[in-house]
Amino acid sequence: MSMLQTLRRHGLVRTLQFGAYRVAQRCIVLDITHLMILDANTVVAPATDDELTFDFSTPDEVASLIGDDASGLDGAMVDRMSHDGDFCLAAFANNQLAGYAWFAFEQVEPECNQGESLLTGVGLSLPLSMCFMYKGFVHREFRGRRVYGRLLSRALTLLFGRKITHLLSTADWANFSAHKSCYGIGFRHLGLVWRFGYPRRMFTVTPNTAKPLGIRFLKNADTEGSSTVGSQLASTLPGGRGGV
Ligand SMILES: CC(C)(COP(=O)(O)OP(=O)(O)OC[C@H]1O[C@@H](n2cnc3c(N)ncnc32)[C@H](O)[C@@H]1OP(=O)(O)O)[C@@H](O)C(=O)NCCC(=O)NCCS
Repeated sequence: MSMLQTLRRHGLVRTLQFGAYRVAQRCIVLDITHLMILDANTVVAPATDDELTFDFSTPDEVASLIGDDASGLDGAMVDRMSHDGDFCLAAFANNQLAGYAWFAFEQVEPECNQGESLLTGVGLSLPLSMCFMYKGFVHREFRGRRVYGRLLSRALTLLFGRKITHLLSTADWANFSAHKSCYGIGFRHLGLVWRFGYPRRMFTVTPNTAKPLGIRFLKNADTEGSSTVGSQLASTLPGGRGGV
């Protein structure tokens, strides 16, 4: 989203936050994400009367959607679905893809939870009762119609039948649209995950609210510094709970 669109949709303070963040990202490798969790017992599905249908996709169906470049679906995701048992819930309007959300289980590799650079990836391992939403997308023409919230709330309700009680997700610090959707359906902010440094020396700061929930951050290979901060610190940083 451009600065102008951010200004129009999210106001001056968030636009300044967005601008400062992008400038900092040009100076060092920097990625800040909201870590959030949704409980199947407290999820609030957005109420709308849009004519959408929702369906879990098969690898063949995902493969047939790959030509749709804007959606970011690719062959690697089909492989993940076939080999790792990933789930994709898609929303359709008149047989046209409106959006989708992609879920992984047990372990998430750094490259599946990263910003623009591979260096920003942070791997995670999850308890069996939790899944991770590592990719979500709504086509531009459907944005602002609560498609994303409906995808996530519906997916968690459906996965509840498979003993999944919680959905974990990350969203970029400046992805204000995603924050609105996620916190709007009941996601709880667990803190901020920081990944920063230079290609030869990267650091990761994670909130300590994750460990009691059974979430582990995986150590990246190579030289790396890492630390865990109290959620209090994470939440007082700009863009934490107050920035949502
Ligand atoms: C983030 C995203 C999935 C939200 O999907 P959505 O179904 O449009 O979400 P919502 O309808 O709940 O709208 C959330 C906010 O997006 C903003 N929004 C509304 N229309 C928009 C549009 N056309 N374009 C961009 N943002 C828009 C609004 O601020 C809205 O909140 P508000 O209506 O309370 O003001 C979607 O913008 C998207 O696909 N973005 C690109 C990929 C991405 O960021 N994925 C999320 C990874 S965590």
